[in-house]
This record gives sequence, structure tokens and C-alpha cells, in this order.
Amino acid sequence: MDQRPIGVFDSGVGGLSILRQIRVLLPNEDVLFFADQVHVPYGPRPLSEVRTFAEGITNFLLEQCSKLIVVACNTASAAALHHLRSTFPTIPFVGMEPAVKPAAQTSRSRVVGVLATPATFQGKLFTSVVERFASDVTVLQQVLPHMVELIEAGNLDGPETQEIIRQGVTPLLEQGADTLVLACTHYPFVIPLLSKLVGHNVQVIDPAPAIARQVERLLKQHDLDAPTENTGRVTYFTSGDPERLSEMSLRLIGETGDAKQVYWRGECLHLKAN
Ligand code: DGL
Repeated sequence: MDQRPIGVFDSGVGGLSILRQIRVLLPNEDVLFFADQVHVPYGPRPLSEVRTFAEGITNFLLEQCSKLIVVACNTASAAALHHLRSTFPTIPFVGMEPAVKPAAQTSRSRVVGVLATPATFQGKLFTSVVERFASDVTVLQQVLPHMVELIEAGNLDGPETQEIIRQGVTPLLEQGADTLVLACTHYPFVIPLLSKLVGHNVQVIDPAPAIARQVERLLKQHDLDAPTENTGRVTYFTSGDPERLSEMSLRLIGETGDAKQVYWRGECLHLKAN
């Protein structure tokens, strides 16, 4: 039993898609949710820069007594998961790995499309997942330019968002993809629009429920689960605008709380005094 919180982080509101599933599966766990919104988007940045951010955020979440860290960001996982595990060897980490495995197992056309940021495709993690799980499947890569910024701005189904998704998925469908993997944690918030555009015959894989199950498994394995009688609470932190994060959390996942302001000084994060 361990009453300390789980730390969850992303560049922005994308991590809320993971937080939502953690809350469903583990309602008795306290969670610290961190959004690095002063630096969003991470996707077009060099991997080394994202790695520096991820390490600074992990240090901050550990200072706030996190017992396990969820890197709720494919880009940060691609850039830093390996580094974080070796830098903090005693801390259990759950990271995002593009869900190419379930896609390869279930695709009937044997063509799978992966939607992610440029940095996620550059990382070794993506190549290794494809090599390990999809050697007998054609894996198509697609970036959705500016989609993260539009989702951050709350534009989930406007004309611009529709157009970017249409332009992104059309070539994948034309090449025979029957399965789309969402390999950016922002994208589950446009699933209603995406499903409408691609139709019922195309499977869309959101890895968030599987990530929550992995958190549950690791907590059990390390004997870190919170007491069952505990009512879990979420504390929100952002390096951007706290009011905006609170509003977006309510809108995107139907729950919120006062967000705390955090700021970067060099490579370290500090909580703003009230
Ligand atoms: N939500 C993120 C991901 O899963 C980050 C996207 C970004 O900041 O570009 O990759």
C-alpha cells in the first residue's frame, strides 16, 4: 500500500486522454497531472530538447513525491523513456509505445496507418516496435501538421481540423489501410471527427485503456497501490496558463480542479508561490 500520487505528464492536454482512463480504472489513486504548455508542441522539436524537458518534469514530479511516472506523451517517450529509466533506476515508468502490435494482430488488409508527430517517427522506439511486431504488415507513417496546436486551442471539429485530418488519412485509406493507430495522446480527442471521416470499416486504435492497465499492473507488481478506501484526487500543474488548463480539462474529460502555475528556470521547474 502506498498513498503517494502517480505523476502523469505531457506537453499539453493530450495527457488528459491517458488521465481519463487512469481515473476510470484506478479511482482510488491520487494523480499529479503536469502539462508543459509553455513548450507545446513537442513534436517538431529536436529529440535532445524534449529529453531535457522530460527529465526536468520527472525531477519536479518526484519532488512532489510521485511513486510512479506515466510519460503520457508519445513524443517524450520516443525522446526520453530509455534515458529516464536509466537516470531514475528506482522509479517505475510507464511510457507510450505506438500501438502497432494490436494493429498488426487485427488488420485484415495487412496495411496499418500510424498517426504521430515527426519526433515520434524519428525515435528508435518506433522503428523497434515496427521491427518487433509488424514485420508481415505494411506500416504507413503520417504526420498531422498543426493538429496538436488546434486541439490545444480547443478546435476539435472546425473546418481547419477537418481538412488536416482529411488530408492526412486519405492517402492511408487509398493505400489500403483498414486500421489507424493514434500514436499521439492528443489525437483521441478528435476520434469522433476521425471516425466520421474514415467510416465504420476502419478501426481506430486508442492506446489509453491499455496504458491504464499497464499502470495498474506496475503498481501491483511494486506493491504501490493506494488503499482501496482512498478517494483519488487530481492535482493539475502547467507551465502555461492554469485557468485555461482547468477549462480544457473540464471540457475534454469532464473533470477538473484548480491548476497550479509552474515555471522553468534553466532546466529546472519551480512551483509559483501563491
Ligand atoms: N501528446 C504528445 C504526443 O503524444 C505531444 C504532441 C506535441 O506536443 O507535439 O506525442
